[in-house]
Parts: sequence; C-alpha cells; structure tokens
Amino acid sequence: MTIAGAETSTGNAAWLSRSRNAVWHPCTQMKQHERLPLVPIARGRGAWLHDFDGRRYLDAVSSWWVNLFGHGHSRINAAIAAQLGELEHVMLAGFTQRPVIELSERLALLAPGELGHCFYGSDGASAVEIALKMSFHAWRNAGHVAKTNFVSVAGGYHGETLGALTVTDVALFRDAYAPLLRRQAVVASPDARLAGEGRSARDHALDAASALDAHLAEHHATTAALIVEPLVQGAAGMAMHDAVYLSRARELCNRYGVHLIADEIMTGMGRTGTLFACEQAGIAPDFLCLSKGLTGGYLPLSVVMTTDAVYGAFYDDDPARGFLHSHSYTGNALACAAALAVLDIFADQDVIAANRVRAKTLTSLAEPIAAHPKVANYRRVGMIWAFDVTTPREDFARWCFTEGLQREMLLRPIGRTVYWMPPYCLTADEMALLARRTLEIVELA
Ligand SMILES: Cc1ncc(COP(=O)(O)O)c(C=O)c1O
Repeated sequence: MTIAGAETSTGNAAWLSRSRNAVWHPCTQMKQHERLPLVPIARGRGAWLHDFDGRRYLDAVSSWWVNLFGHGHSRINAAIAAQLGELEHVMLAGFTQRPVIELSERLALLAPGELGHCFYGSDGASAVEIALKMSFHAWRNAGHVAKTNFVSVAGGYHGETLGALTVTDVALFRDAYAPLLRRQAVVASPDARLAGEGRSARDHALDAASALDAHLAEHHATTAALIVEPLVQGAAGMAMHDAVYLSRARELCNRYGVHLIADEIMTGMGRTGTLFACEQAGIAPDFLCLSKGLTGGYLPLSVVMTTDAVYGAFYDDDPARGFLHSHSYTGNALACAAALAVLDIFADQDVIAANRVRAKTLTSLAEPIAAHPKVANYRRVGMIWAFDVTTPREDFARWCFTEGLQREMLLRPIGRTVYWMPPYCLTADEMALLARRTLEIVELA
C-alpha cells in the first residue's frame, strides 16, 4: 500500500493531516481538530518536546503525568537498550525473568506496609480492574460472598475501562456508558476547596471521613473495598486533601472489614513529595496501584501490590480459587527494566530531597500567580501546583492550552484549573520561564 505524502512528510502540516486521517486520538472530539490543530512531536529531550517545524514546548504536565526525569533520559535509555540485548518479553504465566523479579522485590521494600505480592498489568485502568476483581474474589474465597460492591470518592478518577468507570465519578467520561455500568456508591470528597467558611482543610477532611463512616456502618457487609486517590484527586482538578482523611479511612476500613485500595497511579513515584502519598498519612493500603511514572514515562506498565492475607486467600489446590486474570504483556521485561532504572535514579540521586529544593524555587516563582486577583485556591503538594482561574471564558481550557503553545508551554488545564506537574528535571531558568509565561496567560484570561 502506498500512503499519500509518506515520502514528503517532513513538516508539521503533513504529519498532522496524516494523523487526522489515520489516528483516532484519545480523549478527543476529533471534529475539534478542524480548528485546533494537533501538535506533531518529532523528539523530546529533558523537559522539552520539539515539533517538526523547529518549535519547542516545555512539558509542564509530564505528558499526561507519566514522565519523571525528562524525555530521552540517558540512563533509562541505556537500561532498555541493555535489556533488549537479553530478552524483550516472555509470557509471565508459567515463566519468569530477572527484571520482573527484581522489580517486585524492590517495590516490596519501598512500599508502605507489607505489600509483598506484585501482580502486573499494562496501564492504570488495568491495575484498577485487577484491584477491584482481586478484592471481590479474596472476600468470596474467604466466604464473604455478599461483598460485591465498592465505594469511591466524589469526583474520583480511576480509568476508563468498564470496571474502572464504575468507580470513576466524572460525568463527561461516564454518562454515555451509564447503561453499561453497575452503579456503585460515592461518598463525599475531602477536597479542601469544599471546606465551608471558617473550616480548615483538616476539618473538611474529617467531615468527609464521617460521611464515609456513616456509609460503611450501613453497607460494610456488602462492600468489598474503598478506592481512593491519596492526597490528590487528579482528574477532579488537582483536588488536594488533608492526610487525616486517609488515616481515618484506614481506621474505618479496618473497623468495618473493608479493603482499602490506594490508587497511586498518579500520586506515586515521588509526585506528592514522598515516594508514595500514603506515607504522609502513615498508612498502608491492602492494594497499592502504580503505573504512569513507574517506568519514568517510557513504557506501559502497571502493578497492583498486595498483602500476604489477600495472596493467601487465593493460594489453594483448586484452580478456580486462583486469580485467573491476565494481559498478554503482563510484566514486560523492557518495561520492568525501565522501572528498575527509575528506582536506581531515585536511590542514587536522592530525588525526593532534590525535588524539595526544586519545589521551593518554583513555589517562590509562583508567588505572583498565587497572589493574582484572578486566581483562587492556589495549592501545592510535592511536585504538583494548581490554581483555579476566575474568567468569563467559556472555553478557558482550550484557550489556555493554545495560549500556552504560543508561549512554548504545554499546559493542559482541567476546566478552569491550571496546574503544573513537571518532570523532575526542570532547571531554574525553565522554572522561571514556566512561571512568567503562565502569569502572562492568567493576566489575559
Ligand atoms: C488516579 C488514576 N487512576 C487511574 C488512571 C488510569 O490510568 P491509564 O490512563 O493508564 O489507564 C489515571 C489516569 O490518569 C489516574 O490518574
């Protein structure tokens, strides 16, 4: 087959028209691209993405929250190349390999609590599917057959496959598929922005925990698990909450015999200032879901880590009591090699401490934004900054995205919330540029 223009596609225009013809882009009403062009990217280095026409964009959202140390990182590149020389992939049912074993051992040492059993998936949503199924099935194997429901937090996002959507509370993604989804309970969000007059973030988190208590008191016999995004509900608009919500949630799950699933797909891997957000509440979940930054933003990989108790509930002579779930690329060796390189970088470069310094610099550069009259609810945790813009612009998110591109910035607001979730490699100059150009946009909003 000959593809029209295949030999001549050198600049942006040719690539974007070929992409519109052949690629159905995610999370997109494709008709919008009649007016809002796609951005063809030729290569990435550090925090920068470069197009085919010589323009560049600072990746202030870490390419959908996955990139940790910048694009084209020499150490991760080398780890993948070395693994390519050994083994690219082998099925994980009936076989095993060095990278997946080492990764599981090292994650178990790093994760909170005793999460010594790693089950792999390919992306975030597959990890959530695994955690939900595993929780239900563990209870069933233990004789608690009525535990068939889940409870999630208002505004929560856990992915868009059908199972994950049942615990996702974002109307835009859910509503069209509602007839396919089993309705699950949703409890009040601890989002600090919702604290009423005179109430602190902590007061509001405690109120939300009381609502969870009331729900579990009534429904614990039929509830398998609570699923939460610890400290930050990303897709809800970087909604941040006080860690006391998580410690209360842990206590309540213990009291009522309900599993706690920590979806750290976005918050894990240092994003909130500790390797895992749960650490800030001093808790360990029954299931920890990781993906996104796990491979430094290189390759799709997710993992669900769980306890001896859950693992033991499946360990039996009867195959039907086993966890018979699989994905073809489960535990892919190249992806695990990338993840091992990521853990090496965390260890060798004391990334958590370096990010504390980086965050201090960017936070002080953000002061004029935080104080701007059009800005409300300025907030930060770890390497996530967010604020809500007061603007009459109906199409603010798209407008801001376009204004950002014109200023070499990749910003992708959620509604009227602008956020930065940059890779952990921004230099002082890049931070100054990000803060200055974002402020310019806020002033025009
Ligand atoms: C908290 C959370 N859970 C699950 C997911 C789904 O991950 P994926 O897009 O890799 O399926 C996301 C993605 O943004 C997320 O932020």
